Amino acid sequence: MKLKMPKFNLNPVALILILLISSNHSFAQSFLKKHPSINPYSYEVVKEKAFDHAAVTSAHPLASMVGAAMMQDGGNAFDAAIATQFSLAVVFPGAGNIGGGGFMLARKANGELIGIDYREAAPKMANRDMYLDEKGNAIPGKSRDGSLASGIPGSVAGMISTHAYAKLPLAVLIEPAIEFAEFGYVITDKEAKGLNSEKSNFLKNSSSPSAFTQKEWKAGDTLFQPELAATLKRIQKSGLAGFYEGPTAEMIVKEMEHTAGIITKEDLKNYKPKFRKPLEFDYRGHHIISFAPPSSGGILIAQMMKMIAPFNVEKMGSNTDASVSLMVEAQRRAYADRAEHMGDPDYWKVPTKTLISDQYAADRMKDYQPGIAGNSKTTQAGQVHESEQTTHFSVIDADGNMVAITTTLNDTYGSKTIVAGAGFLLNNEMDDFSVKPGVPNMYGAIGGEANSIQPGKRMLSSMTPTLVTVNNKPYISIGTPGGTTIPNQVYEGLVNIIDYKMTLKEAIDAPRFHHQWIPDMIGVESDFPETTVNALKEKGYTITKRGRFGRMDGVQILKDGKRTAAGDKRGDDSVAGY
Ligand code: DON
Repeated sequence: MKLKMPKFNLNPVALILILLISSNHSFAQSFLKKHPSINPYSYEVVKEKAFDHAAVTSAHPLASMVGAAMMQDGGNAFDAAIATQFSLAVVFPGAGNIGGGGFMLARKANGELIGIDYREAAPKMANRDMYLDEKGNAIPGKSRDGSLASGIPGSVAGMISTHAYAKLPLAVLIEPAIEFAEFGYVITDKEAKGLNSEKSNFLKNSSSPSAFTQKEWKAGDTLFQPELAATLKRIQKSGLAGFYEGPTAEMIVKEMEHTAGIITKEDLKNYKPKFRKPLEFDYRGHHIISFAPPSSGGILIAQMMKMIAPFNVEKMGSNTDASVSLMVEAQRRAYADRAEHMGDPDYWKVPTKTLISDQYAADRMKDYQPGIAGNSKTTQAGQVHESEQTTHFSVIDADGNMVAITTTLNDTYGSKTIVAGAGFLLNNEMDDFSVKPGVPNMYGAIGGEANSIQPGKRMLSSMTPTLVTVNNKPYISIGTPGGTTIPNQVYEGLVNIIDYKMTLKEAIDAPRFHHQWIPDMIGVESDFPETTVNALKEKGYTITKRGRFGRMDGVQILKDGKRTAAGDKRGDDSVAGY
């Protein structure tokens, strides 16, 4: 399927700007000039395509095209991933970011696995009760709005660590992002609506107006981000110091004053990404590699897939009441463990080995009774928040290197705080901590001591960048946004491919369901089969319709060696390759 974006003509203002600026910028237009087929003023969404050599799928057509171009220019999957992340920070500002964090999971063609955790960390001045009032009650919004909700951003450091595996200079990989920021790009309808709906929050939570707040946006407008371009140029010139020190760091710290944020220069200078040993398990002849804590995602998908492995899921059929109730009971059990046992492994002993063992999965399913709804003994039903704003992208290159990155500001446009002078949004990732035992975060997830706030600690995540090999050969790179629904989406997506033999695109687009232990209900997408919903209700399940969740993106190697890439029907997600 090919969805066409409306075509836009080159904006004359943009043209003049390009001509003016290109005279004093050493890399100016070097990327866009070299790649005339990548036109920030006219591009289209490509939902699915098979490529001979290499492919990228991301949340924005321009970012995917940049990734593919880097590989055609001699780079590998890591080059593509870095260039895609920086480009998304410009063309997909709600989630693509330099003010947030993420996880980079890779499998090199030689089999080496790499996991880089560039999750935000709690500032040194953070403390476990920082979002509570004097009576010890959580203050609504305090962990979500403004810079007090921000963890120390990790994305720039994460990309610089990833660069150790890349082939092209970092300056070249950042260049497309700079050009999109400086010379502008045409925004989609979804972006225009998103920016308009948050305008008052941007103005409230930031010390100055910004590129995002200049006007009421409509599809086809060109968004220029000169301050962000200048920040990206500082990173291009000075690497880590271009963000974590000097003018950018000063601007971040200055922005803290407006909403009582606590990130200091020292916090920024001390931020370090961490290498995490990827988590591995097998499921029906497939070797699955995913992210370890502080992501809960890898453990959750391992637990859930092991719990359902003894059953003939294929025979039950996709999205039938038999398969959904089995898969939901695995979700219920795994997510209960999430709330109790998972947190930053440098601050909390996560019993990973036990949680993902076959024996533990079998023990957990001992009380499973087909046809009867389980019970989470709900103490409090949290309102599940729906936000679009995390983003996942996948790359597989010509050599078979696979990269999966999920990166986020947490909520839509993060804390809605734009750093004055630096032009980028800060995350509100602190809300992913458990601000108080039993108090649900914006995704309705609860937690306790394992995920309490401590200085330097990383908040528990659901982001689940995942890779699959078969017979030790690269096969799939996949992932999605969606808060706590993420591990369930990846679990369902993999079952769709492995058990139901769906194509990548079918697996990504299939209607989804979600249970997270508490609240004790199954959320289903609006196009979920009505017969299944009714049969599940009869079994005693509470069902809520949730619109759509997630935007899953993936790349898969077909039997003939082609890389088929698929972007979710739920967004502007788009594939590129060669
Ligand atoms: O790390 C996490 O689990 C969340 N901050 C992810 C947020 C997210 O996926 C929002 N997008 N839908």
